Order: sequence, then structure tokens, then C-alpha cells
Amino acid sequence: MTDAIRRHDPLVKGFASDNYAGVHPEILQALALANGGHQTAYGDDVYTEALQEIFRGHFGPEAMAWPMFNGTGANVVALRAMTAHWEAVVCADSAHIHTDEGGAPERSAGLKLLPVATPDGKLTPDLIDRQAWGFGDEHRAQPKVVSITQTTELGTLYTPAEIKAVCDHAHELGMVVHLDGSRATNAAAALDVPLRAFTTDVGVDVLSFGGTKAGLMFGEAVVVLNPDAVRGLRYLRKSSMQLASKMRFVSVQFEALLAGDLWLRNARNANAMAQRLAVAVRGIDGVEVPRPVQANAVFATLPRDVIERLQKRFRFYTWNEATGEVRWMTAFDTTEADVDAFAAALAEEMDSSA
Ligand SMILES: Cc1ncc(COP(=O)(O)O)c(C=O)c1O
Repeated sequence: MTDAIRRHDPLVKGFASDNYAGVHPEILQALALANGGHQTAYGDDVYTEALQEIFRGHFGPEAMAWPMFNGTGANVVALRAMTAHWEAVVCADSAHIHTDEGGAPERSAGLKLLPVATPDGKLTPDLIDRQAWGFGDEHRAQPKVVSITQTTELGTLYTPAEIKAVCDHAHELGMVVHLDGSRATNAAAALDVPLRAFTTDVGVDVLSFGGTKAGLMFGEAVVVLNPDAVRGLRYLRKSSMQLASKMRFVSVQFEALLAGDLWLRNARNANAMAQRLAVAVRGIDGVEVPRPVQANAVFATLPRDVIERLQKRFRFYTWNEATGEVRWMTAFDTTEADVDAFAAALAEEMDSSA
């Protein structure tokens, strides 16, 4: 028996991020199932083998999944595989690869990012053109990849038609498309479409598919939809330090998530709780919700003193210090009672600020 002590209260939840949540019990069960005995290391195990069929079921017969440790690593490996040394990546200036990965794409992959300002975190063909120029000019890093995020860092959602327009435009320019799908399951649930409807079916070439925010302990997968868009992934995963030796434990988690409907149940719950939260806080005088609530993020502007007091009661991040905008994220395990308690606390703090 372990001597470990539980050091936190498992009933306490916040709204800081969907990766503050724990592990879905069905994922933990799957991990236990895969335990015991020996399996070949580095992905030559029966769980990783079985996973390919499951990913193909979601993304089509060409799909090939490469399990990795985390989302930053998956993005870096995908982008490295999609570019030559002289090529560059067009992305939104709010993209996680640009703002939140500690410069990993630049530092560890030597990538040149070409960021574009967007109103809502979404690229369009016109916005892509602000950076997709200078083809053949030896003085300019050559635009090769368009990287979009679904759902975006600003909580917005591309429709399949919007992603198709991005892909068609990129392909006309001789470029390829990477989708950071850290929250791809939330997008599918919100759009009420299969995962392939906004990826494979509309021309996305490579996807970083998120597992951690969907209920895994850890694990993401680079999913190649167009094999012609990548080179050397097998070697790049190792040289980027993303090759798990005990890969069966990443793969079995994805199997538990994707073989049935766990991914959809989890994403639907997170999205529904964000809607419930948005409705509740819009009803509180003085609280503004400045961005559309389309998946599992709610942005709001509040007086600074309220933010400070509320943060002592619940964990969440200030998104923009200057404007007093905060971000609240819901997760697979957020309950109606969690949302209602948070909204009630916000109403109290607003009252005492008035
Ligand atoms: C859109 C997006 N992409 C990638 C990541 C990176 O994931 P990780 O923290 O596992 O590196 C995150 C994490 O917050 C994210 O929100």
C-alpha cells in the first residue's frame, strides 16, 4: 500500500483552464488495464498498433497518428515536419505557438513565425495574404505553412466552410495547413459534426490532436492527413524529445477517449457548462461578455477589485490587465453546481463593489 497522502481537496474546482482538471475515471481504468507485463517500448506495442485503426475511423483511411507527450511538442514536431529550413509559418498573432509556447517553435525548431493580427483569433484568406507573399524572394523566409487553431485561443470556432476557405487558399499558394486541435473535440461537439468534417474533409494537411484537455492524464497526437505534407516525422519525434518509451500508456488513453463516445461526452459537458456560465454572468449588472461563447471559454470584463477578490475564491486568469478582461474555462468535469457557485460568488463580489 502506498504511503502517499492526498494533498488537495478533489471537490475544489476553478475556471482557470481545462488542464487544471484531473483525469477522467474511464481513462484511469484504461491505464490500469494496460499496466502489467512487458510490452515493446517506443510505440511497437499492441495499444499503439490498435490506435491507428481508431484514428482512421475518425479521420479517414489516410490518417496516421503519432502519439506525443504534450501539445507544445506536438505543434513543434508537426511544424518541423512540414517545413524546410528556409520556410516559415503564417499564424494568428494570438496563436498558442506564437504567444504561449515559450518560443519553442523558434528556439527548438528554428522556425520563423509570421504572425497576423486578427479580430477574433481566426485567419481568413485575406488575413493570410498579409504574410503570404515574397515567394521566390531570397530575402524573405518562404511562407509554407498556415497554422490555425480550432477552437481558437479566444474561444471562437471556425465553421468547416471557413477552414475549407483557408485550406483552398493555402493550397493555391503552394502552402500546407496545420491545425492546432488542442480543443478539437470541443469544436466537433459545438459544431455537432464528426472530427473529420473540419479537418480531413476540408483539406487540413496535419493536425495536433489534443487529449489532455479532453480528459487524458497527458498525451497529444500529431495526425497526418496528407502524407505528402510531412517529412521525417519518425525521426523528428525522437529528436524533439517527444518519443515516449512507455508509449502504450499514451495510446491506451487515446483508445479509451476515441473508441467510444467519451471524447464527445466530455466536450459536450465542457461546452454546455460554458454556455450556462455565460447566461448566468450576462445576467449580472456590470459584467460584460465581449466575445462570442462558442465552445468552453468565456471571456468577461470586470472591475479590477472584483477580479482580485474573486481570484481569492476561485482560480482563473486575467487575460488582459489593461482592459480588465478575464478568461474562464470549463472542463469535462465542471458541474452545474460549480458554475452556479461561481456565478453566485461573482454576483456577491459585484454587489460589494457597487
Ligand atoms: C491552443 C493550444 N495549443 C497548444 C497547447 C499546448 O499544450 P501543452 O500545454 O500540453 O504544451 C495549449 C495549451 O494550453 C493550447 O491551449
